[in-house]
Amino acid sequence: SANQSPAGKQPTATYESAFLKACRREAVPHTPVWFMRQAGRSLPEYRKVREGIPMLESCMRPELVTEITLQPVRRHGVDAAIYFSDIVVPLKAIGIDLDIKPGIGPVVESPIRSRADLARLRDLTPEDVSYVTEAIGLLTRELGGTPLIGFAGAPFTLASYLVEGGPSRNHEHTKALMYGDPQLWADLLDRLADITAAFLKVQIEAGASAVQLFDSWVGALAPADYRSSVLPASRKVFEAVAGYGVPRIHFGVGTGELLGLMGEAGADVVGVDWRVPLDEAARRVGPGKALQGNLDPAVLFSSREAVETKTREILDAAAGLEGHVFNLGHGVLPSTDPEALTRLVEYVHTETAR
Ligand code: CP3
Repeated sequence: SANQSPAGKQPTATYESAFLKACRREAVPHTPVWFMRQAGRSLPEYRKVREGIPMLESCMRPELVTEITLQPVRRHGVDAAIYFSDIVVPLKAIGIDLDIKPGIGPVVESPIRSRADLARLRDLTPEDVSYVTEAIGLLTRELGGTPLIGFAGAPFTLASYLVEGGPSRNHEHTKALMYGDPQLWADLLDRLADITAAFLKVQIEAGASAVQLFDSWVGALAPADYRSSVLPASRKVFEAVAGYGVPRIHFGVGTGELLGLMGEAGADVVGVDWRVPLDEAARRVGPGKALQGNLDPAVLFSSREAVETKTREILDAAAGLEGHVFNLGHGVLPSTDPEALTRLVEYVHTETAR
């Protein structure tokens, strides 16, 4: 119909939003802003609606997911919403016995370490996550012209939780498998790529207008190992959703040495943490990609002046980029003052208004 964009079923206002324009490296009215983990514990209204409801259960309640996803959009005036879920939700949906423990993170009852364990990773079907389709239907109606970002964990980061059995500092079991049994490792990542691609497709078909692949812990690897042991699986995910024409964002922490390869894997937008300035990141990533980032989330605990100074530095470093989406270099920390986030959105919008 007349108000449908060329890129699928999203409304024209969404397609023409500052966020999607920046992802496509088009001219923008202002630099768009959103925050990883913008929904969640920094917001009192989040803590209130989550009271007594375990994390994974809350991800399966479409009305609750809709409310939590909308909260930071209402409060901060960010340029995009991110679907409220967790990277382990598709694994739970195919029957992996895991839970998200408060203050710890995802914990897997029986880790995946042998060839026999691989059989537990069956394909994900849309029926396994019907609550996602339902929630995104509700959300896109409420969001109007604000785009919704779908997301998934990348094969390496998912493998790390599955192989370690929980959060890990050194990823020793994961690396033992990667170096010790490269064929089993490749097969594991390939299975996870299929599951991840299927999960992203569900979100895009339901109305997500961009997707972010979180490879949060891949910064633990050297570039050569990333290239041989991770990139093929991440590329498979990006290629599987290329046909939809929605921007594909790729993010990791401590990935300064991997930025070029993460772009090569198939991202349209490369996420950068605070360790590499954006102008330097652009040299590492090369032409034809937008960048997302990169204020250190801990800076938000400092004075308003310090936040503005640090933000100004980022905007200056981003001045020559083909496309820039302002974000933090990692997720909002739970004890962040929400007002500091609202002020930051206003500051970026005002400073970059064209
Ligand atoms: O607003 C948003 O960004 C959407 C929500 C979101 C959650 N998890 C909700 C959540 C997103 C995008 C994620 C992704 C996720 N989950 C990642 C990748 C992003 C990143 O930070 O690098 C990772 C590594 C996970 C795994 C995970 N889940 C961790 C490390 C934790 C924190 C453990 C803790 O309690 O400190 C979780 C739990 C989780 N996921 C919470 C939320 C809001 C906290 C649970 C709660 O509020 O009770």
